Amino acid sequence: MERENFGSKFGAILATAGSAVGLGNIWRFPVETGKNGGAAFILIYIACILLLGLPLMLSEFMIGRHTQSNATGAYHRLAPGTPWKWVGRIGVFAGFIVLSYYSVVAGWTCKYAVLAIGNQFEGADPAQLKSQFLEFSSHPWEPLAYLVLMIVLTHLVVVMGIKKGIEKCANILMPALFIIIVVLVVCSVLLPGAGEGLTFLLKPDFSKVNGGVILSALGQAFFSLSLGLGCLCTYASYFKRSTNLPKAAVSVITVDSLIALMAGFIIFPATSAAGMPLDSGTMGPDLIFITLPHVFQQAFAGLPWLAYIFSVLFFLLLIIAALTSTISMHEIVTSYMKEEYKLSRPKAATVETVACIVIGVLCSLSFGVLGDVSVFGRTIFDFCDWIVCEFCMPIGGILISIFVGWYLKKQLVKDEITNGGTLRVPLFNVLIFVLRYVAPVAILLIFLDQFGVFI
Ligand code: ALA
Repeated sequence: MERENFGSKFGAILATAGSAVGLGNIWRFPVETGKNGGAAFILIYIACILLLGLPLMLSEFMIGRHTQSNATGAYHRLAPGTPWKWVGRIGVFAGFIVLSYYSVVAGWTCKYAVLAIGNQFEGADPAQLKSQFLEFSSHPWEPLAYLVLMIVLTHLVVVMGIKKGIEKCANILMPALFIIIVVLVVCSVLLPGAGEGLTFLLKPDFSKVNGGVILSALGQAFFSLSLGLGCLCTYASYFKRSTNLPKAAVSVITVDSLIALMAGFIIFPATSAAGMPLDSGTMGPDLIFITLPHVFQQAFAGLPWLAYIFSVLFFLLLIIAALTSTISMHEIVTSYMKEEYKLSRPKAATVETVACIVIGVLCSLSFGVLGDVSVFGRTIFDFCDWIVCEFCMPIGGILISIFVGWYLKKQLVKDEITNGGTLRVPLFNVLIFVLRYVAPVAILLIFLDQFGVFI
C-alpha cells in the first residue's frame, strides 16, 4: 500500500510549523525571556536557532524525507544492523512522554478557556486566582477529564490520517492562531503603560548575559522547535520528494520564532500596563494560570468587556497552539506502531492514546493525590519533563548531528538536501561543519551544565 503524503507543500509547512508552535512559544518563551533579561535573551535565542536549530531541523528533515519512514524505521533504513536505530527509539519514547505530560497542561488551558468564557476571573485578586488554580490542578478528577478531552481530540485528528486529518486541521488551526495572536498583540501594545514592556523586549541589556542565559536559550530552542523528538523526522517522511527542505526549515523556524516573539508582545506590554514588574517573580511558572488572568483584568481596568474578550482569545490561542503540537507528538508514536508492528492507523493510534492517558493521569495526579510520590526526587510530572528535556532531547540532538555529520555519506546528505542537485544550497559545507563540530560540542555543554559541571 502506498504511504500517505501531505497534499500540498504549503499544508506540509503549516503542519510542521504547528508541531513547533505550542505552549513552548506562548508560555515557556516569555517565562525564559523574563527570567533571563529580555531583549538580550531574545537575540541569543535567535542566534541559537540559526546556528543549531536550523542545521538540526534540516538533518531531521533529510532523514525523514529520504527514508519515508517512521522515526525508528528511518535510522534502520539508513544504518541497517547498527545501534543507530536507538536514536529513533529515543525520539519515539520522548514524543510519547512529552505528549503524556504536555496534555495535562493542554487540559488546563481548556479549563481556563471555560473559566474565561464564564467570566470567572473578573474581580479576582492574585490570592484568589492562586487558590482557584491550586484547587483545580489538585482536584481528583476534573483535570483528568480535561486531559482525556485533549488526548481524545488529538486522537480523532490523527486517526483521520495525514491529508484529511493532520493537514486539514493545520490548514484551519494555524491561520486561526495567527489571526488571534495579531489581534492580541495589537490590543496589548496599544494599552497605556505598555511602553515599559516594549522597551524590555526591544532594548538589549547584555549585562545580564552569562553562560546560564546562553544555555537556557539553547534549551528553549530545542523545546520550541521539537528537536530530537522524532517529530520533525516523522513529518518530513510525509513531505513530497520535490519539497525544498532548506526553504521548509527556514519557513518553520521563521513562523515558530515569530509566534514566540508575538507572545512576548502580548504578555510584556500587558504586564507593564497592569503595573506589575517584568522580572522572574512575575514571569515564573505561575504566569499563565495565575498571573495573566490578573494582568488582563488590571491592564483593561476601565474596559471589562475588553478584558473578557482578551482572556477568552488568549486561552483559545493556547488550546490551538497546544493541539497542533499534541497532534504531531501523537503521530510520532502512531506512525511507529503502524509501521513497525504492522497495525492499522486506528489501532496504532488507540494504543498510543490509551498509553498516554495512563501516563498523563499519573502526571496530572502528581499535582494532587500523588503529590508525595517522588521519582529521583521529583514529582511524576517533573520527572517526565526532566527525562525528556534534560536527557532525551540533548542526547538525541548530539546523536543526530553526529549521524548526519559523520556517519552518513556527505554525498547522500547533499543529494537529499539539494533534491538530487537541482537546488542550489550555498552553505552546504558550513552545514556539515556545524553538524560535525559545533552542534555536538554546544549540546554537550547544555547537557553537562545541568549536572553543575561548570559551576
Ligand atoms: N514544540 C512544542 C512547543 O513549543 C513542543 O510547545
